[in-house]
Amino acid sequence: MSLTTTTAILMTIMLCSSWAVVEGQIIRTADVTVTNLLYRHHYLTMHCKSKDDDLGVRVLPKRGSWSWHFVPNFWGTTLFFCAFKWDTSNGLHWFDIYVQKRDQDRCSDCRWIVTQRGPCWYNATSGGYTVCYPFNNNLARLG
Ligand SMILES: *[C@@H]1O[C@H](CO)[C@@H](O)[C@H](O)[C@H]1NC(C)=O
Repeated sequence: MSLTTTTAILMTIMLCSSWAVVEGQIIRTADVTVTNLLYRHHYLTMHCKSKDDDLGVRVLPKRGSWSWHFVPNFWGTTLFFCAFKWDTSNGLHWFDIYVQKRDQDRCSDCRWIVTQRGPCWYNATSGGYTVCYPFNNNLARLG
């Protein structure tokens, strides 16, 4: 293949925006979507961060969603963690919403619902939010 053809193919791949070149490697980018599925009419307040990015505080109305797009790192250590609260939550509930080692092979469009019991991951194979986790109320993160 000529260099122009290769470049054109690469450009096309990147325009589809699910791939990126990091340190000379082509890697798959990722989206995380969080949907408020708290029971009754609660607002979900969330604040997500990684080591490098603070995504700010978001308030999702019932059934409201919010997404972000990012490039997981070359070393496989990308981590986004979120603090969640709602009017009856009694403080903050934490969850590691994107753990590259856990998630990169199972989703690039990673979708979650958040309920009072914890977040559930959307399994595209089974077609449901069937993989649920408890919150990890990790006090170390507060420091
Ligand atoms: C997703 O669903 C498929 C089909 O039911 C199942 O085989 C797979 O183990 C599920 N993945 C996870 C992470 O639970």
